[in-house]
Amino acid sequence: MSSTDHPFLSAPTKQLLIDGQWVNALSGATFDSRNPATGEPLGHLAQGDAADIDRAVVAARRAFEDGPWPRFTPAERQKVILRLADLLENRTEDFARLDTLDMGGPIRRTRGAIGLLTGVLRYFAGQALAIHGATPQPSIPDMFVATVKEPVGVCGAIIPWNGPLWASVLKVGPVLATGCTLVLKPAEDASLTPLMFGQLCLEAGVPPGVINVVTGFGETAGAALAAHLDVDKLSFTGSDVTGRRIVAASAGNLKRLSLELGGKSPHIIFADADLAVAAPAAAVAVFGNSGQVCSAGTRLFVERSIAEEFTDAVAKVAAQMRIGNGMDETIDLGPLVSQRQLTRVTGYLDSARAEGAAFACGGERLTGAGWDTGFFVPPTVLTNVQDGMTVAREEIFGPVLSVLPFDSEEEVTKRANATPFGLGAGLWTRDIGRAHRLGKALRAGSVWVNCYNTLDPAVPSGGYKASGYGREYGPNHLEEHLQVKSLWIATS
Ligand code: NAI
Ligand code: MG
Repeated sequence: MSSTDHPFLSAPTKQLLIDGQWVNALSGATFDSRNPATGEPLGHLAQGDAADIDRAVVAARRAFEDGPWPRFTPAERQKVILRLADLLENRTEDFARLDTLDMGGPIRRTRGAIGLLTGVLRYFAGQALAIHGATPQPSIPDMFVATVKEPVGVCGAIIPWNGPLWASVLKVGPVLATGCTLVLKPAEDASLTPLMFGQLCLEAGVPPGVINVVTGFGETAGAALAAHLDVDKLSFTGSDVTGRRIVAASAGNLKRLSLELGGKSPHIIFADADLAVAAPAAAVAVFGNSGQVCSAGTRLFVERSIAEEFTDAVAKVAAQMRIGNGMDETIDLGPLVSQRQLTRVTGYLDSARAEGAAFACGGERLTGAGWDTGFFVPPTVLTNVQDGMTVAREEIFGPVLSVLPFDSEEEVTKRANATPFGLGAGLWTRDIGRAHRLGKALRAGSVWVNCYNTLDPAVPSGGYKASGYGREYGPNHLEEHLQVKSLWIATS
């Protein structure tokens, strides 16, 4: 069996999932899917465009208003979501291998993620029974008021390639819990597990048309979904550049938006921290998934008295990280997702060189036999970086860390916050007062103290500032999918 054999890849062309049916794109067009570790083709995907998006939205609207779905009780929706979680758990290996083949992430990571994802689904299964309004008491006599929570309607979701199954589960879970319907547009570089997850929804008993999956390009299929006048809500995860386009495209019907747009997250190490724990954590925070993580800790602020020692410790961990084909159980880092991403990341390495940064390790794409056909960049630690340099300001989405020494708490707080983004922030200290002060002062949706990048189904995650708006995970995620209706009943 070759490493790319997978039961889901047996058919030559993967079709679109619309209204419970597998169909070709109306235009008949397809595009290739490739394994970024080897450059090998994995198959063809239907290339959906505006006409296919429209077909999927029509199906989602019909499923929302007519079909059996609006009559599902909360308990019935819960049962379907629990079944979906069980099916996903049973198929862990199939899903993990397909994600790794498609986007390159280490198999240990794609497999490990499924533990969290089944937890996310079971959390939303519980939340399906926890939807309720209130009975506020107006000062108007002879009046009864109830607030009622109703599903927002037909949802769209546009997702990135760095965690395709992950993002699919996060978009599908709250849709099913609240009784909405969905058109999901995966990223062109990693569409396979979103399609296989769509199939799993059908197997779990989700009625046809409730979850539709349309593969295709951002500028055509994605843009059509963002602009569609019959989509009530759109959830987008990806770059801030595309996020801005989506805000503009949504204006036609003023659809509700939630945006998760990445960042340039500060990770702050004080000299009093447990440095033996903080150093490997700082490496994983930025190099995990080859840096293709929205909340990656890419700006490492280190207190000056320990800057040299700590940088050496992080570079040592980085140098020991094993890089290779994600299907290899022993590797820590896989390839970048695509040639485009490789070009982007090596462009940032060139700009670091040109602007005067020094390289403590890494810095060049891996070349030679076994590397040339894939997109491999080793963990790279940059020193001699100034806050204003391009690499210290822009989201790179590659395994590139900038070390930035600092002298005082006040100074580092200002510098950490001096970014348009605000997704995550981390700090390591044993000083409880400082932990509380910075926990409050750092402008980010998640602040991690003596840990980094922890996630939990019950805990909200999302951005401040240009990292977006809306929250995923936790009760807030459900609210994004609900409307509030105030029902006034005059009693006399
Ligand atoms: P992207 O934001 O363009 O792609 C994400 C999704 O948006 C894909 O499904 C794509 O098809 C879709 N899309 C693209 N253009 C669209 C449009 N005009 N209308 C509607 N949908 C559209 O990201 P891309 O180009 O893949 O990566 C470029 C950079 O973006 C990365 O280097 C990284 O810095 C950042 N990024 C950040 C992510 C995050 O989670 N924060 C995820 C992916 C990329
Ligand atoms: Mg691929």
